[in-house]
Amino acid sequence: MPYQVNPDRNIPWNGLPELPIDKTLYETVEVYAQLGNAKAALGRLQGRSIAIPNQGLLINSISLQEAKASSAIENIFTTDDELYKAFSEQRIEQLHGASKEVLKYREALWKGYDYLKRNDTFDEAYFISIYREIKELNDGIRLPSSGIYIKQGGSGSNAGKAFYTPPRGPGIVEAKLANLIEFVNDDKQFPVDPLLKMGIGHLQFEAIHPFTDGNGRAGRIFNIHYLTQKGLLDYPILFLSKYIMDHKDDYYSGLAGVTQRGDWKTWLIYILKAIEATANLTYDKINDIINAKDSILQAVVADSNIARPESLVNALFTQPYTKVKHLTTSGIYAENTARKYLDELAKMRILEKRSMEGNNYYLNLELYRILGE
Ligand SMILES: Nc1ncnc2c1ncn2[C@@H]1O[C@H](COP(=O)(O)OP(=O)(O)O)[C@@H](O)[C@H]1O
Ligand SMILES: [Mg+2]
Repeated sequence: MPYQVNPDRNIPWNGLPELPIDKTLYETVEVYAQLGNAKAALGRLQGRSIAIPNQGLLINSISLQEAKASSAIENIFTTDDELYKAFSEQRIEQLHGASKEVLKYREALWKGYDYLKRNDTFDEAYFISIYREIKELNDGIRLPSSGIYIKQGGSGSNAGKAFYTPPRGPGIVEAKLANLIEFVNDDKQFPVDPLLKMGIGHLQFEAIHPFTDGNGRAGRIFNIHYLTQKGLLDYPILFLSKYIMDHKDDYYSGLAGVTQRGDWKTWLIYILKAIEATANLTYDKINDIINAKDSILQAVVADSNIARPESLVNALFTQPYTKVKHLTTSGIYAENTARKYLDELAKMRILEKRSMEGNNYYLNLELYRILGE
C-alpha cells in the first residue's frame, strides 16, 4: 500500500496517514544494515554507561549541550559561556532570552524523564507538559483556529513558503496524537523494532505538529525519553540534537521527503545514522570525562592537602563553572574553606578563576574543553 501524501502542501494535511505505516515503505537492505550499525553502537554505549560512577553528574553536564544544540536548531543561540554562567546561577526564573529558553529545555528533559518514571507510558499529558515547560505557557494542543504551517527558511525565492501544513480541525490533532501514542506504547499490537519506532514516532509527531510552537524541541526530547522508556538505555544520555544541528539540511529534507513524497527510507536511514554517530561520540565523551576526573583527583591528592578531595572533584564535574556557593550549599565545606580550595586549584591551573559582574566563577578547563568538542 503506498503512502498518501499531501496533494497541496499549502492546505492542512488532514489525511496524514495514521500509524503503523506499511512495512514495504522501509523494509530494505539499506535500512536494516544501518539499523544494525545503530544498534551495535547503542549497545556499546549502554554497556559503558553502567560502569560510570555517579551517572547523574555526567548527565547533568552533557544535557546542557543537548539543550543548547536542540534550541540552536530553532535559531535560539547561546554561547557556552553565557549558558554555563546562567546555569551556575541556578535562578532560571530571573533569566531571560536565549539562555533561559535553553535552560527551560533542560528542565523539560528532566521533567519528562520523571513523569515517565511515575506513569510508565507516553500519553497526551506527557507531551503537553514538555511543551508547557519549554514555552512557559499554560495552554495545550493548538486550536483549530491557529493556522500554522512550516515555512521554508533561508533567503532564496522559496523562503517563507510552506514546506508542509499540518492537520487542523476539531478533534483531528487529538485523534492523530492518540494514534501515535498507541503506536509507541503498544509493542504487541505494533511489533516494530524500537529504533525504527523512535524514528517513525518523531516524524509523525512533527507531521502532527500538535502545538503552536516548540514541536521540534518536544519531538527531540521524545526521542531521548523513548530510548530510556524502552530499556535501550538506563539513563538519558543519547542526545541527538548536535548531529541534527550539524546535518540540519538533511533533517529538514528528510522530514519533507516523507510529507511530500512518502520517502520513509531516506528519513529512517538519516535518523539511524544520527543514533550511530551520536552513540559513538557520547561513548568517547564519557571516557574523556571519566579520565579527566580521575587524573584531576590524582593531582589533587598528590599535590595538595585539600580535605575531602573526592567530594570536591565530583562537584567540579557537575558543571563547568563552580561558585563558592555551590560547595557551601551542598554542604561540602564552609565558605572560607571552599574559597581557599578553589583558589588553590586555580593556582594549580586545574581551574581558571574569572570575575564577572562582581562574582567569582571557577572554570573547570578540562570539562569545558571536552563538552565543547
Ligand atoms: N516538512 C516538515 N514536515 C514535518 N515537520 C517538519 C518539517 N520541517 C520541519 N519540521 C519540524 O518542525 C520543527 C519546527 O517546529 P516548531 O514548532 O517551530 O518547533 P520549535 O519551536 O521547537 O522550533 C523542526 O525542528 C522540525 O522538527
Ligand atoms: Mg519554533
